[in-house]
Amino acid sequence: VASKTLRIQILPLLSDNFSYVLHDSHSTLATIIDPSESSPVRKFLAKEALNLELIICTHHHLDHVGGAQELADQKVPIWASDYDRSRIAGCTRGLSDSEEVLVAGHKMRVIFVPGHTLGQIALYFEEASALFVGDTLFSLGCGRLFEGTADQMIASLNKLMALPDETKIYFGHEYTLRNGEFVESLNLNLPELKTYLQHVRDLRSKGNFSTPSLLDLEKRLNPFLNAHSVEEWTRRRALRNHF
Ligand SMILES: [Fe+2]
Repeated sequence: VASKTLRIQILPLLSDNFSYVLHDSHSTLATIIDPSESSPVRKFLAKEALNLELIICTHHHLDHVGGAQELADQKVPIWASDYDRSRIAGCTRGLSDSEEVLVAGHKMRVIFVPGHTLGQIALYFEEASALFVGDTLFSLGCGRLFEGTADQMIASLNKLMALPDETKIYFGHEYTLRNGEFVESLNLNLPELKTYLQHVRDLRSKGNFSTPSLLDLEKRLNPFLNAHSVEEWTRRRALRNHF
């Protein structure tokens, strides 16, 4: 039996958003995560000869759902957290925390991560070591607290940190270099930061992206994963809001 491989393609949308197109290597049926807009997605799917079978939105913000209904065209299901079901137009199914479902032929676990919004979910594919975090976690940063509290966000980040170190983090925005400037401004003792930022600058200068990052690296360098207390975390979040 040929082995099944989850293929993950990065699709940059709007000014700095990422959508992700998933399909099994033996199938042309694709799932898209967080389609901000529809027409570039349609073009991409046509170019890759993929047929859309499922849309998943990590949270209800417009830059993560904006293209969903048009792409669905009342035929393709739209999934989100059960919390967001009523506030994402066209949503056909609400997912619950820890629920396991098949997506693109691969087992996906839903992880509730309230903080950025109260309905935010992360999507975990254990076999592929892939985690889609929406706006909960960025490389060297994390989402703003639009709806949740610092305690909720920290609990959510701790859930993600409990996953294996080799987990690849697919995040929602290309903010890495700006986040890097912020981390530098904190003057933490992180000798590895310089090397990582040079790597990201090289990627960006060639038109590539910094997603996915690695959980292991984020645990060491991300100021929202290595804070020592809630107070320190909250102070860093406030500083970043005005950076
Ligand atoms: Fe958001």
